[in-house]
Amino acid sequence: MSLKDEIKLDRLPRHVAIIMDGNGRWAKQKGNVRLFGHKNGVKAVREVTEAAAELGVPYVTLYAFSTENWNRPKAEVEGLMSLLVSTIADETPTLIKNNISLRVIGNQSLPPQVKAKLDECISNTAHCSRMTLTLALSYSSRWELTNVAQQIASEIKNGKLTPEEVDENTIQERLATSYMPDPELLIRTSGEYRISNFLLWQIAYSELYFTPTLWPDFRKDDFYKAILDFQSRERRFGMTSEQIQQ
Ligand code: IPE
Ligand code: IPE
Ligand code: MG
Repeated sequence: MSLKDEIKLDRLPRHVAIIMDGNGRWAKQKGNVRLFGHKNGVKAVREVTEAAAELGVPYVTLYAFSTENWNRPKAEVEGLMSLLVSTIADETPTLIKNNISLRVIGNQSLPPQVKAKLDECISNTAHCSRMTLTLALSYSSRWELTNVAQQIASEIKNGKLTPEEVDENTIQERLATSYMPDPELLIRTSGEYRISNFLLWQIAYSELYFTPTLWPDFRKDDFYKAILDFQSRERRFGMTSEQIQQ
């Protein structure tokens, strides 16, 4: 029986978020430059997107570039941005064919040509309904939450909201991710055990899965393993095991 066949399709996570990490180390191991690792990471993105869509996972979010990643050497940042433009251009027809829509979360301070390509892909795939693939680009969770705080403050100032009305939903509805459920499964590759400013609010009850596999080596079977691990867990949400099993 293949790994895929072991997956219970009625117990799939509705949203899988992935911190795609380890491209630089993968390249270094091969005696190559970091950008070589990023280029080889594209295949893993393709595999995960395909595997998730085939299974029927409705939302996948990929952490592609953090706000903090702007601090990397200029050549790496520029290489990543141009890789992004060419990948989006190359992959748009496949996304449309597979009925997958693209969305982006992040602070939008992207180079104009990157933003233009992304906007084009977003609008060309807006009608696609099988799965939503979200790229977190120039994203950081503290940026997102600060933005939410600013929005709420200005709505209170303008009399649209009172402080007493602010509850969890007020925050949830103003997050960049408001169009999707919180991730049920968060995967991080490359053996790092940290969150690196990703979806801090949204992962309150996510199952966390860490694998030593470097991102460019991540394939469909690695994704299936993460899903199977998720399905083996008991999610208690603060309750007792007995309550859950009732
Ligand atoms: C992840 O791989 C890709 C990005 C952060 C853009 P890294 O580039 O962080 O690779 P490592 O962690 O240095 O190996
Ligand atoms: C997190 O990876 C960001 C992305 C995967 C895009 P990093 O490699 O930038 O994270 P740190 O610096 O090791 O925490
Ligand atoms: Mg890294």
